[in-house]
Amino acid sequence: MKRSTLSLLACPTCHGQLIFSGTDDDPLRAGRLACPACDRHFPIVDRIPHFIAPEQLTGFNRRFSRMYDLTSWGYRAFSKIAFAFIGMDEETGRREITDRLDPRGGRVLEVSIGPGVNLPYLMNRPDVGEVFGLDISLGQLKNCQRYVAKKGWGVDLFLGNGERLPFQNESFDGVIHVGGINFFNDKKSAIEEMIRVAKPGARILIGDETEKGAKAYEKVIPGFMKSFGGDRATVVAPIDLVPASMLETRVFDAWKGWFYCIEFRRP
Ligand SMILES: C[S@@+](CC[C@H](N)C(=O)[O-])C[C@H]1O[C@@H](n2cnc3c(N)ncnc32)[C@H](O)[C@@H]1O
Ligand SMILES: [Zn+2]
Repeated sequence: MKRSTLSLLACPTCHGQLIFSGTDDDPLRAGRLACPACDRHFPIVDRIPHFIAPEQLTGFNRRFSRMYDLTSWGYRAFSKIAFAFIGMDEETGRREITDRLDPRGGRVLEVSIGPGVNLPYLMNRPDVGEVFGLDISLGQLKNCQRYVAKKGWGVDLFLGNGERLPFQNESFDGVIHVGGINFFNDKKSAIEEMIRVAKPGARILIGDETEKGAKAYEKVIPGFMKSFGGDRATVVAPIDLVPASMLETRVFDAWKGWFYCIEFRRP
């Protein structure tokens, strides 16, 4: 993590300022972040701050962090196959969502970055400044870290829960989430958190599979249905959880109707 990123970080529980102790390198390789306000500590391991202890996760968050830890090695190929299945080239599909960001040269946060499959459509874009990524699966983040190192991209990564973001209020000029929120433990908190860390005027994009997409997953991913005890709630875009005070709110179909995307701007 770059030293300059420290000023953006906040305790995910009380939003207090964090104090770093550890190696003097830049980027920061190892050490500890402390929250004096609530006396919590977060280690930095191999440049990734750990804001959650995976063994303390519960419910879907626990199940899916484990699933992605185990399957991350194949995620990039899975994504390509999924786009081939829906008859769409991956770049076109991903740009349907990433191109809607409007960060005006500022900072972008991707919540649930996975192995970084959206990064090719964010990096080196003239209107995108620094990019940051958070995920609940360390397996996904390690893959992402190898990928950005190979590409020479300076993307800081964080192990954390989208429902409790470890960033100061109003830190980002664009926030994007593609895939995941349907099965977060607490979608409402995740949306509130994306709004909290976005600057006034920032556009926020939240996408995930539609019911049609979830049904297809059930057919092809072993154990997907089992994750819900055989009783999965029908997927609906969580538009009701977006506060009425947000601006330019709309939902659009992406990926030929296999995905929905909620778009709005923070006032
Ligand atoms: C379907 S993948 C999406 C990856 C990538 N964003 C993409 O566009 O393909 C879902 C991701 O959500 C992450 N995830 C699941 N629950 C999460 C949570 N509560 N907070 C943050 N990330 C979470 C998973 O670890 C996984 O990397
Ligand atoms: Zn704290």
